[in-house]
Amino acid sequence: MFQLAHLADLWVADQNPMASLTTSCTGAVQIRWNEQRLTHQLALLCAHLVVALVALVGIGGATRVMEAGLACPDWPLCYGSLLPGGRMNMQVFLEWFHRLDAFVVGVALLVLCVVSLLQRQRLPGWVPWLGAMALVLVAIQGGLGAITVLALLPSVVVTAHLAMALLLVVVISAASQQLLSVDQPGRQAQGLGWVWVLLAGGSLVAVLAQCLLGGAMATQWAAERCLASGEDCQWLAAHRHLGSIAAVAVAVQAVAALRMPVRPLARGLSLAAAALVLGQLGLGLTSWHLQLTAPLVTVAHQVVAALLVAVLTAGISREVAHG
Ligand code: HEM
Repeated sequence: MFQLAHLADLWVADQNPMASLTTSCTGAVQIRWNEQRLTHQLALLCAHLVVALVALVGIGGATRVMEAGLACPDWPLCYGSLLPGGRMNMQVFLEWFHRLDAFVVGVALLVLCVVSLLQRQRLPGWVPWLGAMALVLVAIQGGLGAITVLALLPSVVVTAHLAMALLLVVVISAASQQLLSVDQPGRQAQGLGWVWVLLAGGSLVAVLAQCLLGGAMATQWAAERCLASGEDCQWLAAHRHLGSIAAVAVAVQAVAALRMPVRPLARGLSLAAAALVLGQLGLGLTSWHLQLTAPLVTVAHQVVAALLVAVLTAGISREVAHG
């Protein structure tokens, strides 16, 4: 919110430069607006948006785990109201709050799009395209959210809803690092740096595939059925196998980051991804051993998955950015 207010401030300053003129002690007059500051503000907006998107994935996970996906039977309102006070219980609150949070994220993405279009002369050429793309993705995401409710939670739509959320995490996380790299001294990946980018890119693809497999399994309640009656256990077996492959891929890119000439921040993010994947394996196994009876563990498994996607993307984006 602070970021949005600050962008609005910069926008007003741009529209009315006289309002933002500040007089120095020598009497010289400066215009507050500058391109570097705008780029930095947009980078911070994107960084905040990554956190908000990961939190939104977590709230979405909590909504599913608490079987609250249909707690508001209509869309976009909940029981025909913006605030269904009389109907509020834990499930209605989760579904209502998920929509409210998604709305706030949508507004922030709209601001990103409008500012990047209006200020395109002052920004790198790709930024308005990014803003437009993020807006299209969030509109599709809203549509999928509506179909999810109106079509009574079909697994394929709920999984597509998770896929779109993770795609938004990828796009905005990459954008935040690209914007933060503008005007910072540094070099783009070279030689072995590109080999690391390929390794990290491969591990990101493996993690995304694992997330979608997990989403498809969870939205069909296949793990529950496997535990209860031994049916459909092939989903969990596949999820465990692909999980091991994804974890090895993340570990390999982390070891490579220690041995190859990559930027320090990319290396740090790469090691953070390795720590997260270890935690993720632990959460998955714990969830299974507790027979899916601990909603907090299941939701944490989903949050860490989204965080892993954000961190891997940020590392790759930082390494390929032009300084
Ligand atoms: C790189 C490693 C992993 C990633 C990125 C990952 C990601 C995910 C995701 C995104 C979901 C969907 C969550 C939801 O919709 O609520 C999921 C579900 C699940 N995962 Fe993993 N996972 C990984 C490894 C594992 C491992 C090793 C296990 C161990 C058995 C495991 C067990 C589970 C279970 C049981 C579910 C279903 C939860 C439910 O039905 O409520 N995961 N995973």
